[in-house]
Amino acid sequence: MLDLLVKHATLPDGTSADIACEDGLISAIEPNIPSEAARTIDATGRLVTPPFIDPHFHMDATLSLGTPRMNVSGTLLEGIALWGELKQIQSVDDIVQRALAYCDIAVSMGLGAIRSHVDTCDDSLTGVQALLEVREKVKDYIDLQLVAFPQDGVLRDPTAMENTIRALDMGVDVVGGIPHFERTMADGADSVRQLCEIAAERGLMVDMHCDESDDPHSRHVETLAYETQRLGLQGRVAGSHLTSMHSMDNYYVSKLIALMAESEMRVIPNPLINIMLQGRHDSYPKRRGQTRVRELRDAGMTVGFGSDCVKDPWYSLGRADMLDVAAMGLHVGQLSSREDMRWCFDAVTVNSAKIMGLEGYGLAKGKKANFVLLQAPDPIEAIRLRATRLAVIRAGKVISETPASSATLSLPGRPTELDPGA
Ligand code: FE2
Repeated sequence: MLDLLVKHATLPDGTSADIACEDGLISAIEPNIPSEAARTIDATGRLVTPPFIDPHFHMDATLSLGTPRMNVSGTLLEGIALWGELKQIQSVDDIVQRALAYCDIAVSMGLGAIRSHVDTCDDSLTGVQALLEVREKVKDYIDLQLVAFPQDGVLRDPTAMENTIRALDMGVDVVGGIPHFERTMADGADSVRQLCEIAAERGLMVDMHCDESDDPHSRHVETLAYETQRLGLQGRVAGSHLTSMHSMDNYYVSKLIALMAESEMRVIPNPLINIMLQGRHDSYPKRRGQTRVRELRDAGMTVGFGSDCVKDPWYSLGRADMLDVAAMGLHVGQLSSREDMRWCFDAVTVNSAKIMGLEGYGLAKGKKANFVLLQAPDPIEAIRLRATRLAVIRAGKVISETPASSATLSLPGRPTELDPGA
């Protein structure tokens, strides 16, 4: 007997199939599977997708909003200063409890994997200790990948390099950085070089907050692409945010994008946060700050949207909804054709899974039986509706269910029940 059978699912490519799950894997995915199952779900008219994937998050700061105070200016820099105050007063257990609470929300929203940056600039490595514990605690329901992130600058902060290396020794997965926050452009470039060398020596991936500014003259994306090639790290390096590219000279960008494509750089814009934080020094017109998503995608790079923040020093909103992230990326990038909107769904699923290097991801025989049933008929409608996650399946078992959204109408001559996802 099967563990789970999902009947008449609509898949992201528009085809219809049944999905059979056994021993944590998809044992068959084809029309009309005639089997008995411990549980059967009728998915007629509903989309089944592989899990949502968040390739950029800060789990050590999440759900801390208002502690010890609010970010009044709303800027990235006040957020960093506020985070510095919070770091002084939070314990390992504080972070563990907040992170676990966030993972509960994330599961309910169909997230299957999260790449979280973790600050490595305190000598006690409080966040690293906490999130390593959380990674272990949630492994049966969320793949948590950690990035060693020297928030205050790996060269600017006197002990950050030593602490970042300690964090990697403790088991943090990926090398991070923040070159635009170093003291000078030269220091920023040097930080990229040193951190990429550490990744190359250890066989690790790199994911840097890179040029998260409105400075058209910032050049750390170029350095990151160059170091990727010099060290043979092609396909293992991601640039997060890259917002300075929005403001750069068009001729220079045409040269830069070619260099990035040669480096197979992964690109992680964070639409909700960057539309909120960038352009804060502008009067009108205000720049949007989102990197050049369409152009980077069209140059062949893998682009995945991240959520970055939920209720923390940088952003008061958010609810682990990758469809909300996709919708913002779509709007800010003016990705409004049917093909472009469909691609935005990939940017929060398959593209981000590729960036994280997830194994066994996808809807195919032999893949992990991880998927989400949505109250929407297709990916574009899912984005439009921020569709309800009717069921979240992990290793062939339902781990979260949400009732379908509906409204009961009392209107003359009209239906009484409204299903927004029909
Ligand atoms: Fe970030």
